[in-house]
Parts: sequence; C-alpha cells; structure tokens
Amino acid sequence: MPESLITVAYLGAAILFILALGGLKNNESARRGNLYGMIGMIIAVLITIAAFVTNNLEILILVMVLGGTVGFILSRRVQMTQMPELVAILHSLVGLAAVLIGFANFMDPGVEYIGVEKTIHNIEIYIGILIGGLTFTGSVIAYGKLSAILGGKPLMLPARHWLNLAMVIGVVVVGVKFVGAGTHADAFVMLVVMTIIAFIIGAHMVAAIGGADMPVVISMLNSYSGWAAAATGFMLSNDLLIVTGALVGSSGAILSYIMCRAMNRNFISVIAGGFGTGDSTPSAGSGGYDGEVNPIDATETALLLSGAKEVMVIPGYGMAMAQAQHAISELAKSLIASGVNVRFGIHPVAGRMPGHMNVLLAEAHVPYDIVFEMDEVNDDFPKIDVSIVVGANDTVNPSAQDDENSPIAGMPVLEVWKGKTAIVLKRSMAAGYAGVDNPLFVKDNTRMLFGDAKESLDLVLKAL
Ligand code: TAP
Repeated sequence: MPESLITVAYLGAAILFILALGGLKNNESARRGNLYGMIGMIIAVLITIAAFVTNNLEILILVMVLGGTVGFILSRRVQMTQMPELVAILHSLVGLAAVLIGFANFMDPGVEYIGVEKTIHNIEIYIGILIGGLTFTGSVIAYGKLSAILGGKPLMLPARHWLNLAMVIGVVVVGVKFVGAGTHADAFVMLVVMTIIAFIIGAHMVAAIGGADMPVVISMLNSYSGWAAAATGFMLSNDLLIVTGALVGSSGAILSYIMCRAMNRNFISVIAGGFGTGDSTPSAGSGGYDGEVNPIDATETALLLSGAKEVMVIPGYGMAMAQAQHAISELAKSLIASGVNVRFGIHPVAGRMPGHMNVLLAEAHVPYDIVFEMDEVNDDFPKIDVSIVVGANDTVNPSAQDDENSPIAGMPVLEVWKGKTAIVLKRSMAAGYAGVDNPLFVKDNTRMLFGDAKESLDLVLKAL
C-alpha cells in the first residue's frame, strides 16, 4: 500500500478521534461524537491490517471476530450502573496489550536497531511495558473494588509511601541495567523484573485508594492506558497510535483534574490514597443538628408543587441508588403539562462518576433542554418556588460555603437554601459521601420527605 495513502487514512482517523472527543462535550452531540470515534477506529484498524499485516491474517481475523463478539455481548448486557467496572476491565486489557506488545517487540523488533537508535528503542519498550503493567494490575484491582469482589477499604500498609518510593527507584535502577545490558538474555531478565515491580506498583497504588474515590482512579487509569498506547506507538513507529494514545492520555488526565477540582480535592492526595470512606455506604456524620427537622408527606409535597411556578430538581447519588430517574421524569412532565417551569440543576460531581446524573436522566427521557449545569442555574435559586432534592446531599451542603473547617469547604454547591422551599428526598438524616452533616436539612425553608426516593416520588405523582 502506498505510504501516502496510509498517511492520509491515519490523518483522517486522527481528525475523527478529535471530533469524537469534541462531540462528547454535551448530551446532544455525544451520539454523533461516538459515531465519529467508531468510524475513525474502523478506518484505523482496516488500514493498519491492509498496510502492515503480511502473514497469519486468518488468525488475526479469527481473534478479532471472537474479541468483537465478546465485547458486543458484554456491552449489550452491562447496566448503566456497571459502566465504571466495564471501563476498568477494558483499561486492564489496554495495559496488558501494551505489556505483551512490548515483550513481543523486544524479542523480535523486525528491524535491526544499532547504537543510539537501539537505546532509544529499548527505552520506548521499557516505558511502554512499565505504564502498561501498572495500568493492567491497577485496573484489575479497580474492577475488583467496583464490583465488590474486593473490599472497598483502602489498604494502608505501614510506610506505604516509602514502599512506593523504593519501587520507583527500583524501576529506574533496573531500567539503567536494562539499557546497558551486555546480552539480550540479561536485558530480558531486567525487563521481567521491572514488569513484576510495575504490576506491584499498579496493584498497591489502587489498593490504597478508598472505594468511593474510584471514579477519579478510573479516569486516571484511562489516562495511563492512553500513555501506554502512545509509548507502544513510539515503539512500533506508528503515528496514529501515538496520536490516539496522547488524546486518551491527556483527556483522561484533564478529566481527573476536573473531577478533583469539582470535589475540591487535591489530585495528589487522591492518588496517594487513603481517602474515601471505603465503600458507597453513607457514613453517619455527627448527627447533632442545631435546629429542627421539618418533615413533609407526599400529599403536602404535591400541593406545594402544584402551587409553584418555578421548580428546580437537584438529583444526586440517592436518585441512582433508588433508580428514581423515571419517577422524577414523570413528575417533571406532569408539572410541565400544567404550566410549571421545571429545570434540572446538575452538580459536576453529583453521583459517583462523571455525567452519572445526565446519563440516568437521558435514559428516563428527560429533555436535554431542561437539564442545566450547576453554574447555569445557581444564581436563579432566589426565584425558585420549590427545589426538589432527590437523593443529593454533599452537593447541596451550605457548610461548603459557611464552615471553613468542613472537609468539603470550598467545594462549589447548589444553593438550594436561597429558594422559597427546598424539599429533600432521602431515607434518613445520614450523611453523604463526604461523611459530614448537612445544615440544609434543618433550615426553616427546608422540608424533609423521608423514604426511598422512588417510592416517595411515586406517591407524590399519585397525589398530584
Ligand atoms: P451524596 O452526598 O453521596 O449523598 C447521597 C444521599 O443519597 C445520601 O445522603 C443518602 O441518604 C441518599 N440516598 C441513598 N439511597 C437513597 C434512596 N434509595 N432513596 C433516597 N435517598 C437515598 O450524593 P451527591 O450529593 O450526589 O454527592 C456526590 C458525592 O460523591 C460528592 O461528595 C462527590 O464529591 C462524591 N464523588 C463524586 C464523584 C463523581 S465523579 N460524581 C466521584 C467520587 C466522589 P440516606 O442514606 O439518608 O437515604
């Protein structure tokens, strides 16, 4: 195949990947973005096969069909709530692929490298296997934690930071020995030693992170898998793999950063581990509230809503737990039909993964044009008659603004207390993910509708 055709096809695929990422920036264009990504990947795979595969084509096609079938079946079966697990296990495969390709390339580079070129090539192999190795075991542990096969509690080994440091130094020392090794066999041994250390680093790093912090870890592993692919691209001198890996690597890193900023958490402290309550069970908070809780029932809620002109719905993790998205969608439709202006305000880290609420609301057919980002609606609360807080807690906690000693101090929050009435749907007075009390629950203009969010909303809908 002519070199120019490969270049043009690769360029086209790279542009489609960039358009795919651009498409993912909002709900309306996300499907189109996915489509661009799929077309780009089909072009990339077909051209690579046509241009570079010279033998064993039948085996390649067979494993692609097998792998594709397994992937297709899994993606049809997976529940929306299991998405992080699926992403974690897929990242582990990217990491494993980088390790295997690295070893295969080391054993048979296809081209005879000499002098500086050989050193550079060996460094590319070393880095590719290193990132791939830690991505592999890190993702497997993340999968184990997310699917509750492993406990969510952070593993806090004594002197774990020293252990990490020792392993990093070990990787550098072994790397120097690998590059300077006299024989191929010696170099191979060094590569195996480093791979084992990389496996341990990945597993240890993710094991030290609390179950609830996993979404940040997933996007970080996403980033690592991209860099592993980019390193593999250098090793194989494949420009498209370098570009694609860099796109995945940088977008994953940016996403991790955005998530940490929206949670007002230090990225390094998340990665260093030890935070996160351990599992998704809400911790208790102190429970000592200075003020009175004002409960409300479904009938009274329906009455308040039917008299309102402006309603804001704030979904949170509890909506996902209760699977209340369809019920709130029905309620919104019914209110809109009777002339109420209903909007949804979404906090950037509501729920437990980026876009968690948006995906659930889209699944329940809530129209995109009434779903807003926090910043788009936060100034409107003084005009809101009724806010319905569906299983959200930390993301509507005023102490983020009022209490500088709060663990969530500085985290931006939806200012529901500035509206006329806020109705909070949850089962108890328990704390949310951050484990802190929420003074919103005892404000004069807050009413608590206790119970499972879906059951409560069904009752409100009935009463309406
Ligand atoms: P949370 O603060 O986690 O609070 C969720 C609330 O839902 C709980 O207080 C719980 O109270 C209630 N709940 C649970 N099951 C329920 C059910 N069946 N029916 C009704 N209510 C139920 O939620 P949030 O406001 O969405 O905040 C998200 C938190 O997760 C933030 O602290 C954020 O930093 C963190 N986080 C987010 C992400 C991303 S990327 N989204 C990643 C990591 C961490 P009861 O037990 O009383 O019912």
